[in-house]
Amino acid sequence: MSNTFARKADHLRICLEEDVQFRHLTNGLERYHFVHCCLPEINRSQIDLTTKFLEHELGAPLLISSMTGGTEQARIINLRLAAIAQKYKLAMGVGSQRVLLEKPEVANTFSVREVAPDIPLYANLGAVQLNYDYGVKECVQIVETLQADGLILHLNPLQEAVQAQGDTNFRGILDKISNLCWSTSIPIIVKEVGNGISGPMAEKLINAGVKAIDVAGTGGTSWAKVESQRATDNLGRRLGETFAEWGLPTANCLLAIREINSEIPLIASGGLRNGLEIAKAIALGADLAGMAQPFLKAAAESSETLEELVQLLIAELTTVLFCTGNSTINELKESEALQEIVA
Ligand SMILES: Cc1cc2nc3c(=O)[nH]c(=O)nc-3n(C[C@H](O)[C@H](O)[C@H](O)COP(=O)(O)O)c2cc1C
Repeated sequence: MSNTFARKADHLRICLEEDVQFRHLTNGLERYHFVHCCLPEINRSQIDLTTKFLEHELGAPLLISSMTGGTEQARIINLRLAAIAQKYKLAMGVGSQRVLLEKPEVANTFSVREVAPDIPLYANLGAVQLNYDYGVKECVQIVETLQADGLILHLNPLQEAVQAQGDTNFRGILDKISNLCWSTSIPIIVKEVGNGISGPMAEKLINAGVKAIDVAGTGGTSWAKVESQRATDNLGRRLGETFAEWGLPTANCLLAIREINSEIPLIASGGLRNGLEIAKAIALGADLAGMAQPFLKAAAESSETLEELVQLLIAELTTVLFCTGNSTINELKESEALQEIVA
């Protein structure tokens, strides 16, 4: 079994069975509340959640964050996620396709186009891989194999540092991301994996030519905890525990990035767990909200559980719009209904 293949199977098992969520460091959204509007003057049934992201029309501002592929269980989960994304017109990312580059025979565990012909679908690779075996050619290859609309590169220095034999040479990666952005027509999106992207780092990435940023901040899945669980020696376990609560809260990342750039398409993710938090993230400047662990747990259970989750998120988000007197996502973005709670 290749290392990458075994790692992917471990990640699914650990994220489904163990408590690997941040415990103390939150997503930061609890510091904000919406001012209630007792007289919305709108009909709840006419609230419109549709939105545009990178030229794609979505039914709601939701992204199923990059997660999995490579194993039989991953194939089933990806198909369930893609089918629900198609039904509700949501965006979706697949997990890192490095395993596919190593073992082309697992390509079918990522293939979801048949069940999701219309959704914005994103390929995925660790940006640090640009310093190891892969370059522009492989990036084009994974996008084409998936029939994807773009490529999400993940930045995960902490995860790699905690992992035994992690890929930790991040020298020159920004130039390589930039080269990729300018040498292909593929839209490149950069995300973290739960430790956040600061304002200055976002500025570098925007200047490098990325088309969107997903902050993937703290408050949800902690990859130091995941890797700590996988560690086979004391050093790895301790390292993961020490850095279990490391990173930038999602809310802080959104505010910091919007302060330096009001235009870049921005995805909020990292610890978002319900439609109220999704609404807060949008009011803080996000265009789309992504979730990983909640979609994974629901999809691993059944397609019905997954659909219930999507319906709940939509009902929660709609209720925020209703009780703040906003009829559309754009109105929510522009409203001043979200206020910081002053202690
Ligand atoms: C099982 C699992 C596998 C993941 N694999 C990837 C991956 O291959 N590539 C990636 O960019 N992010 C990956 N992530 C990270 C998520 O996309 C997301 O950034 C992170 O889990 C924080 O979101 P959450 O708090 O909603 O879980 C994975 C997450 C989970 C739960």
